[in-house]
Amino acid sequence: MPGKILVTGAAGFIGSHLCERLVKEGYDVVGVDSLTDYYDVRIKRENLRELKGNEKFTYYEHSLNDMDLGSLIGEVDVIFHQAAQAGVRASWGNRFEEYIDSNIRATQRLCEAAKNHPIRRFVFASSSSVYGETTNLPMGETQLPKPVSPYGVTKLASENLCLLYKKNYNLPAVCLRYFTVYGPRQRPDMAFHKFILRAMKGKPVEIYGNGTQTRDFTYIDDVIEANMSAMAYNGSESVFNIGGGSRVSLNSALDILHDCCNLELDVRYKDAFKGDVKHTYADIALAQRELNYKPKVKLDQGLAYEVEWVGRLIRKLGDS
Ligand SMILES: NC(=O)c1ccc[n+]([C@@H]2O[C@H](COP(=O)([O-])OP(=O)(O)OC[C@H]3O[C@@H](n4cnc5c(N)ncnc54)[C@H](O)[C@@H]3O)[C@@H](O)[C@H]2O)c1
Repeated sequence: MPGKILVTGAAGFIGSHLCERLVKEGYDVVGVDSLTDYYDVRIKRENLRELKGNEKFTYYEHSLNDMDLGSLIGEVDVIFHQAAQAGVRASWGNRFEEYIDSNIRATQRLCEAAKNHPIRRFVFASSSSVYGETTNLPMGETQLPKPVSPYGVTKLASENLCLLYKKNYNLPAVCLRYFTVYGPRQRPDMAFHKFILRAMKGKPVEIYGNGTQTRDFTYIDDVIEANMSAMAYNGSESVFNIGGGSRVSLNSALDILHDCCNLELDVRYKDAFKGDVKHTYADIALAQRELNYKPKVKLDQGLAYEVEWVGRLIRKLGDS
């Protein structure tokens, strides 16, 4: 069993689930998060609530951009780098600075600090957004990435930084390209969270585009499983697609929310956003072969868990 494990973005959707899984398995975890205000920080504090009472969890509320990463990394031998400024749509315009800081600069600082330490594994949270618009489906890891959003550009740059440090300094980096992750704690800017919340409040649900766009939805527990496998991985591959095997159109997802989760949806179609791709669809053969990755949770089941959680969140926080 390794020593301490560092999880960046520990208060976020994916980072908090990962921390919980690691402490449950007996690891000592150091979590870092600057609690950015991209979405309601009360949700992030709620994500951390159980972890904070656990003696195996140490938490630093700090930005990766100005903390002393050398001494932090000196204590750890596995790093899960989940922190980022997420979100495709907000990455246009004035907020781009935040994407440069939290995605590119923070990743460079982390790689630079980690290169001098005997890290056993460095797992980077990459994204399907690196692929951009393609008719070459399913998307394979060797395909030329051509992001179509500023967010995707920063995730690709961050991924490349990890791979550069791997090549030049033997940083044991593995990049996991997540495909639209959903489930309890999903970020409030993401489609399912918004749909469920609005439907529960009797408000119209807005779809950008005509709803025929497809996404390869990936349940949170499957993503966490992929991270655990990446920590143990000893092979030579560096980049893996982590898709959910539940590729459906947004319209079909709405049908599932209606039929399986009993949500009444008043759907309004709006113009598509620039940077939103038409389809995502992961080829997960490499992850299956190398990481023994097999997504288990089906969309109707995963959505039912998310609906339950959004209901609890509304009761706890009121408006969110
Ligand atoms: N959720 C998805 O569907 C999805 C898909 C593809 C990739 N990803 C990637 O997975 C990772 C986690 O995403 P998420 O959905 O949990 O997002 P999230 O916003 O819930 O979590 C990210 C956390 O990082 C923190 N953070 C941002 N900048 C920081 C900095 N400079 N220093 C310290 N903390 C900082 C934020 O406060 C936030 O709590 C991100 O790297 C994201 O790009 C997510």
